[in-house]
Amino acid sequence: MNLYETSALFSQNMSKKQQEKFLNFYKQVFSEYDITTIHDCSIGAGGTTIPLAKLGYRISGSDLSETLLKKAKVNFEEEGHSIELFTSDFRKLSEVLPNTYDCIISTGNSLPHVNNGDVRNFIKSISTKINKDGLLFIDIRNWDKILNEKPVFKARDPLVMTEDEHVSLYQIWNWHDDQSVDFIFVTSIDKKGKHEKTSLTHAPTYYPLKYNDYEKMLNDCGFEIRRCYDVDDLWLNSHKEEIKTGNFKEDFSKVNWYAVLAQKVR
Ligand SMILES: C[S@@+](CC[C@H](N)C(=O)[O-])C[C@H]1O[C@@H](n2cnc3c(N)ncnc32)[C@H](O)[C@@H]1O
Repeated sequence: MNLYETSALFSQNMSKKQQEKFLNFYKQVFSEYDITTIHDCSIGAGGTTIPLAKLGYRISGSDLSETLLKKAKVNFEEEGHSIELFTSDFRKLSEVLPNTYDCIISTGNSLPHVNNGDVRNFIKSISTKINKDGLLFIDIRNWDKILNEKPVFKARDPLVMTEDEHVSLYQIWNWHDDQSVDFIFVTSIDKKGKHEKTSLTHAPTYYPLKYNDYEKMLNDCGFEIRRCYDVDDLWLNSHKEEIKTGNFKEDFSKVNWYAVLAQKVR
């Protein structure tokens, strides 16, 4: 089963706590820029983007998954915001985007779903749809760190852990020769001490995107990085508190997920 055709991401970042955390984060990121319109090119079910609408930005969105787009419409409406949404592969987005925008975003580690060559083409083509001095904002997993560690198995927090029922979640990383990787999520259900069911959910392939490569692509396509943010606290419920300095470059090898804000300079 493909993760993005299931309901697994329907409520992603929709809790009150996550909405508040993202709202405060985005306030910090965007407040010094004079922007109004933001298009999210991999909006998913929208939970990560709704805080931007709450901050007053004019949001529109697109995504490959019609299942997630349908849910995004409902999620936005339930929070009191209407939104223009349409299906598009972000690699073809510049051909169909109706307007130009002050900012384009792609959140939730979505860009590495396409290979590095396609990321470069995406940046180049989307820059034609970004207004003068406009912004390109993304967040991704720290693929430099992942490639150093090359994990193959991770036990995640159990989804349910009561006396009668255990729902365990495991992540299997299936690495390919070209460095791309497939995530498989394994859910295993035990009831009253007896194994009931194991199910597998596949996320589409990821193509690791390294920081220096991404920075070079941005620079080649007329962007400069304005700031990078450690977003572990937003995206991961890590129990192990890493000791960090607060300086992104110094902390880089300890950061698991980060955001990059770039500005169009030519
Ligand atoms: C992990 S989800 C993140 C969703 C959302 N941005 C968030 O932060 O919650 C990745 C999203 O990327 C979308 N996606 C993957 N490849 C895409 C592509 N080539 N064009 C547009 N969307 C894509 C998926 O459909 C999915 O909604």
